[in-house]
Amino acid sequence: MVQKLEQVETQTKKEEYLLEVKGLKKYFDVTEGLFKKERQYLRAVDNIDFFVRQGETLGIVGESGCGKSTTGNLIMQLLDKTEGEIIFEGVDLSKLKGEALRKKRAEIQMIFQDPFSSLNPRMRVFDIIAEPLKTHGVAKGKELENQVYELMDVVGLDRSYARRYPHEFSGGQRQRIGIARAIALKPKLIICDEPVSALDVSIQSQILNLMSKLQKEFQLTYIFIAHGLPAVKHISDRVAVMYLGKIVEITTKEKLFDQPLHPYTEGLLAAVPIPDPTLRDQKHRIIIEGDMPSPANPPSGCRFHTRCPYAQDKCRSEEPSLIEEKPDHFVACHFPLEKGHGVLIEK
Ligand SMILES: Nc1ncnc2c1ncn2[C@@H]1O[C@H](COP(=O)(O)OP(=O)(O)OP(=O)(O)O)[C@@H](O)[C@H]1O
Ligand code: SF4
Ligand SMILES: [Mg+2]
Repeated sequence: MVQKLEQVETQTKKEEYLLEVKGLKKYFDVTEGLFKKERQYLRAVDNIDFFVRQGETLGIVGESGCGKSTTGNLIMQLLDKTEGEIIFEGVDLSKLKGEALRKKRAEIQMIFQDPFSSLNPRMRVFDIIAEPLKTHGVAKGKELENQVYELMDVVGLDRSYARRYPHEFSGGQRQRIGIARAIALKPKLIICDEPVSALDVSIQSQILNLMSKLQKEFQLTYIFIAHGLPAVKHISDRVAVMYLGKIVEITTKEKLFDQPLHPYTEGLLAAVPIPDPTLRDQKHRIIIEGDMPSPANPPSGCRFHTRCPYAQDKCRSEEPSLIEEKPDHFVACHFPLEKGHGVLIEK
């Protein structure tokens, strides 16, 4: 029997998750005209549930505008949620105030896509990395200097660069500065919002290797946001696929790549090149056509029905819940691939 994600968690809760997101919503008010009575909302994130285990990397993928960054910004408390809970180490962050909130927030850090715009151009590298340490009163004087230099060592930046400004660095080096700053306060969770997508391919793997090394060294937990599945393939333990403000599938990387249950995931996988020609011929590949509809006016029922090659009447009227179709494999689809049209996975 299939169960809703929430039910499964409460019934079989054996482990404490580092982060639990429950019923999270972010509706942006996009009403035009000050005196309009009827408010119009853009449902950027619309009732999502997921958890992240200590030490793992959860990839979040989906097309532009599906709500990935909004999800990250909500967890980081950079945005106010409309509804839902963000539970970090067992504590609902919205219930914390003042010093308690400031301390907890320091345990969650972010690495951004464009390190250039996230680094203050008028500050020297030393001060950029030192800033969080100073703000949180972690170190001063010689001790502060030592910690900044150690952080520079850890991320592979030469100490002689400490007096330089961000514009004097390449993209990859700037991302190293961003990473040094993100790990300065020894956070538990780092939200990485497309951290390598603006970098050259050769530099991307260097930064990903650095992130993996740091994860082991400092027992970090990552949420790794990317547009496509190839970008999360190596770094993720589990992957959540988002579509139009919803999570449509979430499972281990292996299950997602080998046996996707959601037609949208199948479509995203079709965009992943298969180097082996024999395998390439065996795999059925569906192509998702058209653009994602507007989150200000999402389709009825299953939001993917306007682009899904398997859509049926039920899909247009009833919204599918995210349910555990197989152990540790959650999907929001009335006709998940193996059940309704498993033949489509293999020729
Ligand atoms: N401050 C805002 N006000 C109104 N709408 C917003 C705001 N921020 C984001 N949105 C909208 O919310 C939706 C989700 O945006 P979000 O940035 O989370 O998407 P994304 O998945 O990160 O996309 P991308 O891959 O392009 O970064 C989009 O339709 C976006 O236009
Ligand atoms: S619920 Fe229907 S429209 Fe939605 S993904 Fe599943 S088959 Fe496609
Ligand atoms: Mg984004």
